[in-house]
Amino acid sequence: MPKTKNNLKSLKVKAEKELLRAQDPKDLDIVFKKYLGKKGELTRILRSLKNLPKAKRVKVGKEANKLKNFLSIRFSEAISVLKEKAQKEGKVNEWLDITAPGKKAVLGHLHPLTLVRRKAEEIFGNMGFTVVEGPEMETEWYNFDALNIPKDHPARDLWDTFYLKNGLLLRTHTSPVQIRYMEKNQPPLRIIVPGRVFRHEATDSSHEVNFYQIEGLMIDKEISVANFKAIIQEFFQRFFSKGVEIRLRPSYFPFVEPGFEIDIKMDKGWMEMAGAGMVHPNVLKNAGLNPKEWQGFAFGMGLDRLAMMKYKIDDIRLFYSGDLRFLNQF
Ligand code: PHE
Repeated sequence: MPKTKNNLKSLKVKAEKELLRAQDPKDLDIVFKKYLGKKGELTRILRSLKNLPKAKRVKVGKEANKLKNFLSIRFSEAISVLKEKAQKEGKVNEWLDITAPGKKAVLGHLHPLTLVRRKAEEIFGNMGFTVVEGPEMETEWYNFDALNIPKDHPARDLWDTFYLKNGLLLRTHTSPVQIRYMEKNQPPLRIIVPGRVFRHEATDSSHEVNFYQIEGLMIDKEISVANFKAIIQEFFQRFFSKGVEIRLRPSYFPFVEPGFEIDIKMDKGWMEMAGAGMVHPNVLKNAGLNPKEWQGFAFGMGLDRLAMMKYKIDDIRLFYSGDLRFLNQF
């Protein structure tokens, strides 16, 4: 009996040493087999127990089983240590279950304002309008003066403006792009200008400090209000995919003459959608065009409002909330 007991002791020492020396799962497997495999040294001892006299058998059996448990635990520890190491070193050849159900990639989607902008661009594009852009930081000249709104003119109060420390301002409408475009391009021209605008005012369900507009401008030799009416009517019809009743209401903007507002008829009655008018001669002049030669119309439409009507949204602030419960619906 002392012999077997000694055997177990030295076996434990040996096995532990080899275990520590194992560098990868393969080494470990060899060590495991050497002791706990079918023909392993410990397995052999366990098997030979039955040949021992009872008293001895109980004693040695207890020791041998203890060692077996001990080694099994040490092996699984050693395996996880090696695995972790391999993973850290990026060496894992991980087993891949090709039958496992795939993880669905979460796809993003377009913001409702983007959807509406693209739709509007498509419709006007089909009517021959080019999409152009302009800067969000503007000079007073383009945002006001060139649009026939002189410094001390009370009409400047129509737009609550964010003035910047660098002498510029955040554009209060997309109209400055009318000037910028006419300066560089000869008529006949047809453009729309989707873009972000800023107003220094209190927010509520229909007002935000920043929102989107689509400016429209068409200049040619003989353009009339009738042309404008036909085009805007056609636009709304295509946008809402159904017949839409519109009306033009006289209104005032310094950069058009005559000026009006466009309402469309919805379930709840008339809804204001855009400002518009025939481009004022001073505006043409400021952009370097001869008003005796050229004329046209301009309009500025609220993109947010368009989206609110299309999707029946009652609070403009939702567009800028980043709230996924809202956004995921589109
Ligand atoms: N720029 C005007 C606004 O922001 C809208 C407008 C554009 C009116 C073009 C007439 C012509 O309110």
